[in-house]
Amino acid sequence: MASRKLFLLPGDGIGVESMAEVKKIIAYMDKELGLDFECEEGLVGGAAYDAHGTAISEEDMKRALAADAVLFGAVGGPKWAKVPYEVRPEAGLLRLRKDLGLFANLRPAICYPSLASASSLKRELVDGLDILIVRELTGGVYFGEPKEIIDLGHGQKRAIDTQIYDTYEIDRIARVAFDLARTRKNKVTSLEKHNVMKTGILWNEVVTEVHDKDYKDVTLEHMLADSGGMQLVRAPKQFDVIVTDNLFGDIFSDIAAMLTGSLGMLPSASLGEEDKKTGKRHALYEPVHGSAPDIAGKGIANPIAMIASLAMCLRYSFLMGAEADRLEKAISAVLDDGVRTADIYSEGMKKVSTGEMGDAILQKFKTMVA
Ligand code: IPM
Ligand code: MG
Repeated sequence: MASRKLFLLPGDGIGVESMAEVKKIIAYMDKELGLDFECEEGLVGGAAYDAHGTAISEEDMKRALAADAVLFGAVGGPKWAKVPYEVRPEAGLLRLRKDLGLFANLRPAICYPSLASASSLKRELVDGLDILIVRELTGGVYFGEPKEIIDLGHGQKRAIDTQIYDTYEIDRIARVAFDLARTRKNKVTSLEKHNVMKTGILWNEVVTEVHDKDYKDVTLEHMLADSGGMQLVRAPKQFDVIVTDNLFGDIFSDIAAMLTGSLGMLPSASLGEEDKKTGKRHALYEPVHGSAPDIAGKGIANPIAMIASLAMCLRYSFLMGAEADRLEKAISAVLDDGVRTADIYSEGMKKVSTGEMGDAILQKFKTMVA
């Protein structure tokens, strides 16, 4: 089999530290397991701005387009708070999503049993939690035009963001959600605000049509997004797959992450449309946590979300389900051993650094492979 081409974009802040742990695991799989990974590394976010004055260079965009999968760390930080909007660190990530056509963002929120007490909710509400948020990622208010601030004079300005959804965008993300539900508990909850937003009305309509036409076997439920948000913290285990737009998905995935004990635990996959001829699709894998400038460079960040993102990459881009399972089990086993980074630490556990957590997971992974 031809080598697997990975493009690594560690980015800023704890993205860099977390990616270092992923590199250890890739190196092991490459050398010891002969899995033949070919890694290139580039710059994104503030790091790219410092080097090239832009949030991602054309060169690195080409490399991202040529790769089988992109592993992305995090972008942003106070150092770049004043750079022009067009080249702010986040623009690098948004350009990758748009140009690679990564419309489907999968954000699983799984509560590892040994971490249930680290959740901000009561143990019984989150123990065994396993939900999947499917967030539309290339449309909505993130990319809609016009998007601008107009000077009205007299000290007044007007800010405009535009929420737009076309039928095909809702149709294809709904299908991703229904297909995934079939591999899980077979239930989809669609969240929108059809009581206020035109996009909510169309969203609701199209999801229902897709369901009635091709997915009658899947249970479909609609909730207004605010009420869904309330349910997410009241009784999160009622959900299986949640499908929602770009902005609601951004918000609810942070909430779901926190339910699992720490924002440092949640991985994500962003997938493009499958090429009918080659069967390939662009894909980018990233932790849901951001660059966490407050703890960056201290060696205390939790690398689990980044490592779990690698597991998703093995599963979705390379169809290596067994290796992905092993890596996820290694993470779970290390947590069962009481090994904790500061963000998930509790009394009586063993507090470790980012590097020690990465080493512990790699060590477990090795024993599981053997
Ligand atoms: C996320 C992040 C991004 C987003 C930022 C960094 C642009 O919060 O991936 O959830 O808003 O989508
Ligand atoms: Mg977010």
